[in-house]
Amino acid sequence: ELYSGAVYFATKDYDSVIIRSPTTQTNPSAIPPSVFTLPHTAQLEALYTIIRDKNTTRGDFLFYSDRIIRLLVEEGLNHLPVVPKTVETPTGATYDGVGFEGKICGVSILRAGEAMEAGLREVCRSVRIGKILIQRVSPYIGYTLRIADRRDLNLQDEETAQAKLFYAKLPQDIASRYVLLLDPMLATGGSAIKAIEVILSHGVPESRIIFINLISCPEGLHKVCARFPKLRVITGWIDKGLDDKSYIIPGLGDFGERRYCV
Ligand code: URA
Repeated sequence: ELYSGAVYFATKDYDSVIIRSPTTQTNPSAIPPSVFTLPHTAQLEALYTIIRDKNTTRGDFLFYSDRIIRLLVEEGLNHLPVVPKTVETPTGATYDGVGFEGKICGVSILRAGEAMEAGLREVCRSVRIGKILIQRVSPYIGYTLRIADRRDLNLQDEETAQAKLFYAKLPQDIASRYVLLLDPMLATGGSAIKAIEVILSHGVPESRIIFINLISCPEGLHKVCARFPKLRVITGWIDKGLDDKSYIIPGLGDFGERRYCV
């Protein structure tokens, strides 16, 4: 019910633009319609099996997570509008095709989101990328918490810790761009919601934000999509849920730790 009216392509924002229907939606019915997953091929499953395995070396983790990130970025780009465009080929014939419409930029949620920047740069040369740093502040112990610090905290701290903006550096013309928001793990949704609020406060329409992540869970997806129904989420895999320390299960552990080894 909550999502039945959600319009994930706001056609009136895209007058005279062709909207490509995504071909990869494999939504379980309980998942909001603005969520798109990659096609679950055997190859993709094998890539996820490698990065989820706790015995995978850091080198392999980097290599295979980068492969999935590249697929995710490509899928994100499928959601951008195009306009009709006719070109002449070297044979002298004309070809009625389409051209990209609209400028894009990336915004990574530090620190794990930075790992997705290279994947975006590989497919969008000289793309501008902004950065947002959000941390959770515990009212009980009064300092900022990374997920790795949270393991030994009690539940009360976990529930009351607030996502707080520490730093944001965004392209100055971001309001006129489509934004690919990058964060590999969508767990509770707290940081994502804060980051999206920051981007909206810089004048970007909700329908122009595409949130790209490697692994998500129903809790985070429902929270983010209920709050921002016009935003689109591209996620590689929707996992079962969260444990009592807000880790995604089965997940892959702490993405930042596995990627940066600290
Ligand atoms: N962030 C991570 O790195 N891993 C999780 O499981 C959840 C959030």
